[in-house]
Amino acid sequence: MSKRMKICINTGGGDAPGLNAVIEAVTMAAHNRQWEVYGIKCGYAGLLNTDEIINLTPEKVDGIASIGGTILGTTNKGNPFMMPVANAAGETELRDLSDRVMENFRRLRFDALVAVGGDGSLEIAHRFAEKGMPVIGVPKTIDNDMGGTVITFGFDTAVSVATEAIDRLHSTAKSHDRVMVVEVMGRNAGFIALNSGISGNADVILIPEIPFDIDKVCDKLMENELHGHRYAIVVVAEGALPRGGDVIAKGSGEAGRQHVVLGGIAEYVAREITQRTGKDSRSMVLGHLQRGGSPSPFDRLLSLRFGAAAVRAIEKGQFNHMVALKSPDIAMVPLGEALGMQKRVLIDGDTVLTARDLGICFGD
Ligand code: F6P
Repeated sequence: MSKRMKICINTGGGDAPGLNAVIEAVTMAAHNRQWEVYGIKCGYAGLLNTDEIINLTPEKVDGIASIGGTILGTTNKGNPFMMPVANAAGETELRDLSDRVMENFRRLRFDALVAVGGDGSLEIAHRFAEKGMPVIGVPKTIDNDMGGTVITFGFDTAVSVATEAIDRLHSTAKSHDRVMVVEVMGRNAGFIALNSGISGNADVILIPEIPFDIDKVCDKLMENELHGHRYAIVVVAEGALPRGGDVIAKGSGEAGRQHVVLGGIAEYVAREITQRTGKDSRSMVLGHLQRGGSPSPFDRLLSLRFGAAAVRAIEKGQFNHMVALKSPDIAMVPLGEALGMQKRVLIDGDTVLTARDLGICFGD
């Protein structure tokens, strides 16, 4: 008979639809092997303060696959290798608390950790694996920028939400002959903007991978006008940037945060359009609506498949790997390899070519 394992799971980085489905699948697949499963609260915080650990049972995860967010909580400033801690003078300093995490993991006699997160959280998981922790990664992010997998869970839901928002903006744009500029998430990758922009029938899509020339954007709007198309939808990724310019950031955020906070590019684009064309323009930022709510059926299924595959990988002892979608199958990819392959929109790929064939302008 195979060993009865004692495993734990945490969720790190920004929340994404599908996290609870992974937790449900890991819990059920482990339970059906007579293993014990524990949930670590708020990323690695539960391995620093072990009061933050909960026993996951089938009753606790029953039906959570359809619910957004994560029952374990999450954080994007909880890197134990660089943890913000208040010193004696009351100032915040970054300390390496990773050894304490390792000690607690061993003291609690865990056999494996399932780390669910994006590139930042899986980088941390990889560092723990190198310190000797048996880790399996599960790739999550609405941005879809993780390498090694065809898609991350959360992305499909975010694209659906963004597409529905763009669909709704068409009526106001058309009724007022306005340019509606909508900013979507994605950090330095343009996948959400590209996919929702094409699906939502945008006139212009601006993505980080193709720095834009605002004059080209205005030319497209004026050309549309000549053909009697007096309103327009511009979808702009939060990480899009003008040619020769830089991304617009709101600052680096809180201490220990993994990434700068992007935002403001839609307002910039709308202002420039009005100044250059005289057209009435409005901007809106879709923001965290893209991360909330119930996961789409695609994300739900992918998350359940990822969670179950993570448990099968633990059974096989295939650690320091990440579960990944290699359509139609789930495959195991070495974590180090996946982390070295950040994904970006292929500017000569089929999706961009499709957009161009449809007459969508990228401002280039
Ligand atoms: O990585 C996911 C993401 O939603 C990005 O698209 C966005 O830039 C960032 O997280 C926002 O982070 P926060 O929720 O901390 O503002």
